[in-house]
Amino acid sequence: MSGTAQTASPHGSRGDADRSQKNDSQIVLVTGGSRGIGRALAGEFASHGYALGLVARHADALEQTAQELRAAHGIPVHTYALDLTALNATDRLRAAVEADGVRVKYLINNAGAWSRGPVATTDLEDLEHVITTNALVPLRLTKMLLPHLIANEGGILNVGSLAGTLPTPTFAVYGASKAFLASLSVAMRQELKQQGIPVCVVLPGLVHTGFTASGERSIWYRLSAGAPETVAFAAYRGFMTGQATVVPGLMSRVIDFGIRFLPGAFTQGILNFATSRRRE
Ligand SMILES: NC(=O)c1ccc[n+]([C@@H]2O[C@H](COP(=O)([O-])OP(=O)(O)OC[C@H]3O[C@@H](n4cnc5c(N)ncnc54)[C@H](OP(=O)(O)O)[C@@H]3O)[C@@H](O)[C@H]2O)c1
Repeated sequence: MSGTAQTASPHGSRGDADRSQKNDSQIVLVTGGSRGIGRALAGEFASHGYALGLVARHADALEQTAQELRAAHGIPVHTYALDLTALNATDRLRAAVEADGVRVKYLINNAGAWSRGPVATTDLEDLEHVITTNALVPLRLTKMLLPHLIANEGGILNVGSLAGTLPTPTFAVYGASKAFLASLSVAMRQELKQQGIPVCVVLPGLVHTGFTASGERSIWYRLSAGAPETVAFAAYRGFMTGQATVVPGLMSRVIDFGIRFLPGAFTQGILNFATSRRRE
């Protein structure tokens, strides 16, 4: 499929010039695209006519998602079943993409890992896995795929978390890894401005996915968790209108407002209290 005119672009003032034809040889590469927020983001871009490349470890779930997206949107979907944290995985991914005869226009760094519990009692290996998945893999992919993005007038959409904006006991390393990703995004946005590569970071609060299913019984989860589709809709719109940061959903925006404008000692105190039972 090709030839549908784009009506939006993340290139700000370059938007009109960027109304290039959608092209089956240019893909939106979504890491963690088989389920949850990544799948919703894949569906959102597919609904605007973009060809996709989806990455996840479990090939069956990945293929099933790809089939569903092809059937729903009539777009090509390439699948790459690999563990992004494995040795040389990002090199193998780029090689597989290029072997498929496609190039990455938009890179969506979405795949994530987390661990809950105090740092002192959590295995170092688990904590390092979180950092590799949430921070190192996006960095590696960004560097590795920059030539694709530049050649295709593309961009980068990173999936961070509100947890990266306020240090959260029992999610210390997860929050720190997401703070890394958000900081990297904002700084690289400036660095890549000259090359016309927009970088956007989306900061969801709690979202209903397999990621958070274990917390489903908590009142806070039931009150505040949003839908992956809400995140994807807001992220697509924010990215395509050239925003640097997107906080999707009313509840997340209220929390973000509180974090930014209430005294740090107050918000940190509430969070410390809210997580104190988990540390006992
Ligand atoms: N859910 C929330 O409340 C929430 C809130 C804020 C931010 N986020 C962020 O949103 C992103 C997506 O989270 P989600 O809730 O949608 O998670 P999810 O439902 O668990 O989906 C995670 C996706 O990533 C893939 N994945 C995980 N590790 C991978 C690896 N090493 N290599 C390749 N693929 C991998 C998974 O597929 P396989 O298992 O088959 O590999 C799956 O497709 C994460 O970065 C998370 O930190 C989530």
